[in-house]
Amino acid sequence: MDTRGRVTKDGIRIYEDADFDGMHKAGRLAAETLDRIIPFIVPGVTTGEIDKRVEDMVTEAGATSATIGYKGYRHATCISINHVVCHGIPSDKRLHEGDILNIDVTVIVDGWFGDTSRMYAVGKISRKAERLVEITHEALMRGIEAVKPGNTFGDIGHAIQTFVEKNRMSVVRDFCGHGLGQVFHAPPNVLHYGRPGKGAVLEEGMFFTIEPMVNLGRPETKVLADDWTAVTRDKSLSAQFEHSIGVTATGAEIFTLSPAGKFHPTWG
Ligand code: MF3
Ligand code: CO
Ligand code: CO
Repeated sequence: MDTRGRVTKDGIRIYEDADFDGMHKAGRLAAETLDRIIPFIVPGVTTGEIDKRVEDMVTEAGATSATIGYKGYRHATCISINHVVCHGIPSDKRLHEGDILNIDVTVIVDGWFGDTSRMYAVGKISRKAERLVEITHEALMRGIEAVKPGNTFGDIGHAIQTFVEKNRMSVVRDFCGHGLGQVFHAPPNVLHYGRPGKGAVLEEGMFFTIEPMVNLGRPETKVLADDWTAVTRDKSLSAQFEHSIGVTATGAEIFTLSPAGKFHPTWG
């Protein structure tokens, strides 16, 4: 029986083989955009200027920004510096030597959504910032390694949580990954903590993001008066990486891998 093109009892859409192509194109453009912005991450530049460059790159590629107009948001990126956990709004704020920041971009190509974010370093960063960024990236990759048909979403969360906590850092609970494909945010909520064997069972053809946020201090966050910017309550540093992935017969296909292999801020 062909079980593709349906929706599971948990409301998760099962995509068809041909749909992987659409996601691959959208994911590649999003990841390429994050590669091409690297030279502009220097002291003195404003996050608004970075956002404008991203918007131009997306438009010139003939694609659309998914975030412009989304729930009233007006920018092509979220840019989250230091203790900002996620959803930092591009502005006239300038980058300073030693800052770490996350840039999150979501593009729409032929109706398919590519959503990815990664960390950048401004000049030389502290040892503890470097460690936070490294652990957060490794946590994402360990989550992705838990992806294969028959495993559960709880297995993904557990892989991320145990790795982060073993390194005496904390996983943010207030934000999660999400299903995506021909929509931006769809079921399920992809939690970055959890217990083995719990949650919905993974099936070939599911598309979703994994996007752990990791804090050096406590996990609690609060949203600022602008209604978007989420920060750590204890003002500790926070980092995040995000990939859009699809479940294959044997594991995961990562749609948003850096074409230039430049996903790591200190590898230039
Ligand atoms: N790209 C973000 C995510 O990973 C969503 C940003 S929504 C925005 O899901 F409106 F803040 F841009
Ligand atoms: Co996302
Ligand atoms: Co995103």
